Amino acid sequence: PFKWYRKMREEAPVRWDEERRTWDVFGYEEVKTVLDRKEVFSSRVFRDGKSLFENGLLNLDPPKHTQMRDIVNKAFTPKAMKDWEPRIQAITNELLDAVEGKQEIDLVEQLSYPLPVLVIAEMLGVPAKDQRKFKDWSDQAVAGPANNSEEAKSEQLQKQQQVVGELYAYFKEIIELKKKEPADDIISVLLQASVNGESLTEEEIVGFCILLLVAGNETTTNLITNAIYTFLEYPEVYRQIKNEPDELLPAAIEEVLRFRSPVQASFRFVQEDVVLGGKELRAGEYVIAWMGAANRDEKQFQDAEQFVVPRKPNLHMAFGRGIHFCLGAPLARMEAEIVLKEWIRRYPDFRLSADFTLKPLESTFAYGIKELLLTV
Ligand code: HEM
Repeated sequence: PFKWYRKMREEAPVRWDEERRTWDVFGYEEVKTVLDRKEVFSSRVFRDGKSLFENGLLNLDPPKHTQMRDIVNKAFTPKAMKDWEPRIQAITNELLDAVEGKQEIDLVEQLSYPLPVLVIAEMLGVPAKDQRKFKDWSDQAVAGPANNSEEAKSEQLQKQQQVVGELYAYFKEIIELKKKEPADDIISVLLQASVNGESLTEEEIVGFCILLLVAGNETTTNLITNAIYTFLEYPEVYRQIKNEPDELLPAAIEEVLRFRSPVQASFRFVQEDVVLGGKELRAGEYVIAWMGAANRDEKQFQDAEQFVVPRKPNLHMAFGRGIHFCLGAPLARMEAEIVLKEWIRRYPDFRLSADFTLKPLESTFAYGIKELLLTV
């Protein structure tokens, strides 16, 4: 999409898309404005009672958003994240031990895909015996349609609704379990957490858990995969990272987030008439803020189309901005750092397999590839 973004930034950083009937916003300053002006650009993009996420954190405005965010923050403190570090390392080791001795590894299948699912399952307190089932659900919840036909799309929607129903019932069970025997998992914390006497209902907790699966898994997978792919594309930069991983990996991860943002865009709903980038947006219209385009805006980033490590400063918007700034950002960064460090330690000299072909994800908003065959 990057060529298209460049053209759009130059020609029309804010433009009306007649076909989709939405505004597209491509420029850094303009995207920043959309994300910052939450009174004008509402996150309540589902308003017809049909979406499971209508009352979820990501799709609420203040004051409801503030209330819920204050509560869930209690489960995502820096300390809580730090406590997970040894488990993430252990899971990474297990996944890599399982492919020890192989010459060819699909990074996606063996590592970047399973890791975030296994981590979030543990964090939510899903018992080990259910983790297989849980992973299947989680796969299906984010799976796209088999092809682009209307039939396949409606089939996928049905399937997704069914999976969400099953997940819903399952999380209800877990909640009962955790009410009896609280532990230090996210669900137990949320059952007990309250701010100013307000706490979450069980429905809200279940909705939040499902949001975590949808918002956190594929995104983290793509961050890890995109990183390794980019390292292959920039061998000189990679050589430096490999020599000093402790010093350079955090900056490299930030640069992958900017350069190949796992989440390319986010929706907003125009709440009141407003002028943006010289265009008049009307109340009731929808906006797509293209963070993936903003993150390559030359007005903000020198050599924006190049992978530069370390880049200082690197004020990318890959995790969004402002009140909806990604709740899982510290977790995603930590997972990426642990996994990439361990990968480089074991396989400093990996390369693309001869039979590798690039298969981009067929998604407008998620950016990544379906597999990454590496020879090690
Ligand atoms: C919000 C990206 C990983 C949970 C967001 C937003 C972005 C984003 C762009 C803001 C969307 C908007 O403003 O409309 C990413 C990326 C990730 C990642 C690129 C990985 C590299 C995670 C993980 C979790 C998570 C691991 C949790 C386990 C959330 C939640 C929100 C959110 C709950 C909603 C926050 C709110 O509305 O207040 N994420 N995310 N994300 N993310 Fe992430």
